[in-house]
Amino acid sequence: MDDLDALREDLIGAVTRAQDLAALDAARVAALGKKGRVTGLMKNLGGLDPEARKDRGAALNRLKDEVAAAVEDRKQVLARAAMAEKLESERIDVTLPVRPGPLGHIHPISQTLDEIIAIFADMGFTVAEGPDIEDDFHNFTALNIPPEHPARQMHDTFYLPDRPDGTNMVLRTHTSPVQVRTMMSVPPPIRIIAPGRTYRSDYDMTHTPMFHQVEGLVIDETTHMGHLKGCLIEFARAFFDIDDLPSRFRPSFFPFTEPSAEMDIGCSRAGGALKLGNYGDWLEILGCGMVHPRVLEICGIDSSRYQGFAFGMGIERPAMLKYGIPDLRTFFDGDLRWLRHYGFLPLDMPSLALGLSR
Ligand code: PHE
Repeated sequence: MDDLDALREDLIGAVTRAQDLAALDAARVAALGKKGRVTGLMKNLGGLDPEARKDRGAALNRLKDEVAAAVEDRKQVLARAAMAEKLESERIDVTLPVRPGPLGHIHPISQTLDEIIAIFADMGFTVAEGPDIEDDFHNFTALNIPPEHPARQMHDTFYLPDRPDGTNMVLRTHTSPVQVRTMMSVPPPIRIIAPGRTYRSDYDMTHTPMFHQVEGLVIDETTHMGHLKGCLIEFARAFFDIDDLPSRFRPSFFPFTEPSAEMDIGCSRAGGALKLGNYGDWLEILGCGMVHPRVLEICGIDSSRYQGFAFGMGIERPAMLKYGIPDLRTFFDGDLRWLRHYGFLPLDMPSLALGLSR
């Protein structure tokens, strides 16, 4: 059997030395192919006497299996090496910073909205939306502002042209109609904020006909004015990133809340510059109150069982304060140089965990 031992060494040696799949296949064919060396020896079996043929046949079969197994092993080794090489050549450093250039900039209003959403989302609020073009019912009547009510004059409303039935749609004057739409479509408990565009016929240094608000609404069986205050104080501190930002709630009036309040935060106006913090002066930032029982009833919610609070806040002014933007009207000029200066990088999404604005 000496000749087979030498042959085995030869053939398996060729297999294990193969450096790629093509060389491996050549080694396999040289041993086991139609004209391979083992196959050749098999063909010679016919010339042997039966006893010798049996032994020789068994030995050749073993050799054949050994070579085949070696080929399989080598194939695996080569495949692993090929994969390792491919992974190495395609390696990407995922810690490299992104190249922000060509992606443009996020408008400060969008950034501010994202920040506000991040803060309220952390408190368990979800985002609700409603249409910019509203009907009288959702914008006024359902909010306890019936026709001819003097409170209608609080807003300089844009009316759309007459409809066949004599009524007019309006550009919503506040985000409060989203309160109505939410209460009429989902059962309590409710905890939503509703950011969006709002419209009033007003244009000067501090007013634009289109501006943004975010509405908040919480309805359940136990929520009270203390929750309203805690929620909004926490919001203001998180948004402006001032831990000891003072705040106060002044009695006010809105037809859809009772009691109603306006929230002020601490500031200084020394030297004509507005600065937030514990400086003794006050700046109004939002309107709020406990949802009026009549509004709950109009929206189909049992006011003897449910109660809650609402608030509404402009976006532009807090954005100007936080980011030092001096002129309201520049928000809507569409000036790219302005946007490059005041805008934000698209991939720096605000989150409480990573910091609202970096
Ligand atoms: N909708 C009011 C406004 O635009 C703000 C507000 C909302 C007040 C919710 C109380 C409750 O001025």
